[in-house]
Amino acid sequence: MTDDDLRARYEAAHVVIREAGTAAARCFREREGLAVEHKGLQDLVSVADRETEALIRARLAAFFPSDAILGEEGGGAEASRLWVVDPIDGTANFLRGIPFWSVALAFVAEGRTEFALTFDPVHDELFAARRGRGAFRNGRPIRTAARPLQLACVGFSHNFKAPPEAYLEAMRRLLAASVDHRRLGSAALTFAHVADGRLDGAIAFRTNAWDVLGGLLLIEEAGGRASPFFDGRPLLERRTVLAGAPDVVALLAGVDGVRFS
Ligand code: IPD
Ligand code: CA
Ligand code: CA
Repeated sequence: MTDDDLRARYEAAHVVIREAGTAAARCFREREGLAVEHKGLQDLVSVADRETEALIRARLAAFFPSDAILGEEGGGAEASRLWVVDPIDGTANFLRGIPFWSVALAFVAEGRTEFALTFDPVHDELFAARRGRGAFRNGRPIRTAARPLQLACVGFSHNFKAPPEAYLEAMRRLLAASVDHRRLGSAALTFAHVADGRLDGAIAFRTNAWDVLGGLLLIEEAGGRASPFFDGRPLLERRTVLAGAPDVVALLAGVDGVRFS
C-alpha cells in the first residue's frame, strides 16, 4: 500500500471512531433499557455493541469498499487489507455504568498493524499511532513511563476462557517484586494508558486480536516493548500478549509462553 493509501485510511479512522464513540456514549448515558445477552461466561453483549459495530462497518465500507473488516460482533476473516474492530471494549464496565471502556480500531496490511486508534469518549481521549510515526493522545505525543520497578503498576486483562495458572504466576512475580497491579476492565484502554505512561505495562491473557492489536502498536510507538501478535498463528486464535517498559516486560516474559521476537 502506498503512504497516501495509509494516510487516507488513518485520517478517515479518526472521523469514524469519533462518530462511533459519540454514538456509544449516548447509549452509555441511556443504558437502563438496553437489551443484554450472555455470549458466554462473564461475557455480555448489548444492542449498543452491535449498533456501534454496524455504524463503523457502514462508514468504513463506504470509504474503502475493497477493504475487509473483522469485528468482534460481526466476525470476518484474515485479509491483506483488514480493519480490526472492537466496537465497545469493556462491555461489562459499560453495562454497570463504570466509565472505563473504549472503541478500538486497528488497520492491518499484509499481516502488519499499520495504525491504531483507541477512543475513550467519556473522557474525550483519542489515542492514535501510525507505524514509525509515534503515538498521540488528542494529537499530542505520548511516551511510555520509565519508573523504577518498585513504583511500577501493571494492568491485567483476563477472560474466563483462560486457565488461572498464568494469571496467578504473573501476579506472584509482580507481588514478589513489589510491583502494583490494576484490572481496569478494558484491555484496549489499559494498553493505551501504558502507551501514555500512566501504567508501566500490561498483560492480556488468551485474548482476541481486536482487544489488543492496536494497543500493542500504541505501546511500541510510544517507546515501549511489545510481544508480537503476528507470530505465524491464525489471527483469530487467542494468545497472551505483554507490553510496556523494558524492565516490566522482562519481569513477566515467559508467563503463558509469551515471547519477544
Ligand atoms: C473484554 C475486555 C476485558 C478483558 C476481556 C475482553 P469486551 O472485552 O477487554 O477487559 O479482560 O478479555 O474480552 O468483551 O468488553 O469487548
Ligand atoms: Ca474486547
Ligand atoms: Ca467488545
